[in-house]
Amino acid sequence: MRYFIGNWKMFGVPKSVNILNKINSFHTKDKNRKKYRVIITPPYTLIQTYAKSFKNKKIYIGSQNCYQKEQFSSNTAAISPYMIKSVGAKYTLVGHSDNRGEGDTDTMLKNKVHFALKNNLKVVFCIGENKSDKKNKKTFSVLKKQLTKVLDKKFDKNNLIIAYEPIWSIGTGKIPTKDELEKTIIYIKKILKKIFKKKSPAVLYGGSVDGDNVKLFKEINEIDGFLVGGASKSSKKFIDIIKNYYR
Ligand code: PGA
Repeated sequence: MRYFIGNWKMFGVPKSVNILNKINSFHTKDKNRKKYRVIITPPYTLIQTYAKSFKNKKIYIGSQNCYQKEQFSSNTAAISPYMIKSVGAKYTLVGHSDNRGEGDTDTMLKNKVHFALKNNLKVVFCIGENKSDKKNKKTFSVLKKQLTKVLDKKFDKNNLIIAYEPIWSIGTGKIPTKDELEKTIIYIKKILKKIFKKKSPAVLYGGSVDGDNVKLFKEINEIDGFLVGGASKSSKKFIDIIKNYYR
């Protein structure tokens, strides 16, 4: 199974559902549709209406984040996994670099993953090195730390997806070389197999993915799908990624 996840970030109002309608009609007719799953993570404000609209369809709705407590608490503006699940989301991102940058610690991330899984949300856990880590050849050690500090062997690996997103690649148009990326994905899977006793969860790539560079990424068989930011706000660009992946 491959995954194409569209992360809308701070984008979208109710009428932006048009974008999802177009992706859905492409998906319904696509001969490859059984080979992959489409997940969109709109902002919190749209989860409920979108989840309702696509309840019986094959587009899944997720959240971009969740709070590190399970149900209710007195934290202003916080939204818990229980609340997200209650409005129909099936997935949540955890640890996106935008949120790590705002102070998410490993302990907070561990609680987020734990409570999200406990509330039957599938978790897309994001990891990635920054520009200076890369420059100082620390990519592997940073990734290893991000994985081992947060992921517990007791977590259900079947409900976990890892998204490798080098921070220097997010929104910049810069992408790793094929060789670099292949080695990194294989390394991540090696660490995951150690944590989860031989079986690795799916590992996605994210960072400036578009309809052109996906032709390069598809040559790396170990990549189980993509987390797409910018290009997911246009149905055409998002559909082009899927089309070119299977061409
Ligand atoms: P991008 O974002 O595709 O715009 O680089 C990816 C992400 O932040 O998930």
